[in-house]
Amino acid sequence: MKSVTVLTLRDMKQAGEKITSLTAYDYSFAALLDRAGIDIVLVGDTLGMIVQGHASTLPVTMEDMVYHGACVARGLERALLIVDLPFLSYQQSREQAIVNAGRLMSEGGAHVVKLEGGEVMADTVRFLVERGIPVCGHIGLTPQSVHQFGGHRVQGRGDEAAGRVRRDAQALAQAGASLIVLEAMPAELAARITEELPIPTIGIGAGVDCDGQVLVLYDMLGIYPRRTPKFAKNFLQGAASPEAAIKAYIADVKARRFPGPEHTFHNV
Ligand code: KIV
Repeated sequence: MKSVTVLTLRDMKQAGEKITSLTAYDYSFAALLDRAGIDIVLVGDTLGMIVQGHASTLPVTMEDMVYHGACVARGLERALLIVDLPFLSYQQSREQAIVNAGRLMSEGGAHVVKLEGGEVMADTVRFLVERGIPVCGHIGLTPQSVHQFGGHRVQGRGDEAAGRVRRDAQALAQAGASLIVLEAMPAELAARITEELPIPTIGIGAGVDCDGQVLVLYDMLGIYPRRTPKFAKNFLQGAASPEAAIKAYIADVKARRFPGPEHTFHNV
C-alpha cells in the first residue's frame, strides 16, 4: 500500500482527482478512516470543542495536540497526517513556531503541520519550510480568530474581502506551503483561488470546486451535541455503520456530489 505524501496531493490536483480528508482525535477512528481509504487525516484543534467540550478552539494546548497526534499516528498506515498548531503556539515568533512544529512531528507523529493565517504568517511558513517542515495553511474563517471576527462568520464576501483572501492564499503558496484549507467562504472565491494556486486547496464550507474536502468527523457522523455548521452533512443517516458513512463521504467527495448547494455559501 502506497502512503499518501504531499507529492501525491500535488499529482491528484494535476490529475483532477478529488482529495478526501476528515479529522480524527484517537487511534480507533484513525484506523477506521485509514482502512476506508481517506487521503488525509487531520488532528484539528477542533478537539477543544469536539472532545473537550469547550466553546472554542482557544483553550487547546501543545500537550493536547501532541497527545492526540500520537494516538492518531498509531492508527495510520496510508493516510497523510496533518496536526494543528494550537492558538499562540506559533504567532509569537518564528523560533516559537519551529520548536512547536518540531514537537508535533517528532512526538506527535505529524507529516505536515497546519497553522492559521495568510500574509501575516508567510514569513513563518517560509522559515519552517526551508528547515524541512511541511506546512498546511488555513485561511478564510480561521477559528482561532473567532473573537476578532465576532463569531463563526463566512469570510471573503465583497470585492475587498475577497481580494484579501486571494492575497493570503498567494502569500502562503509563495512561502512554500504544501496545501491550504479554505474555510467558510463563497464558492466562487474558493474556485478562483483553486484555479490560481499550484498547490491543492482543501475546502470546508468553500464549495465543490476546491481540490479536496475536509469535515469534522463528529459532525459528519452526527454525534456532536451542539449546533453544527450549514456546510456539514450527517453521513451516518441512512448508513449501516460509521465505516459505511465514511465510505459514502469519500465516494461523494470523489464524485463531486458533496458538498451540495445546501452546504455552499455565495457572495450574498
Ligand atoms: O481544527 C480543525 O478541525 C480544522 C478543520 C475544521 C479544517 O481546522
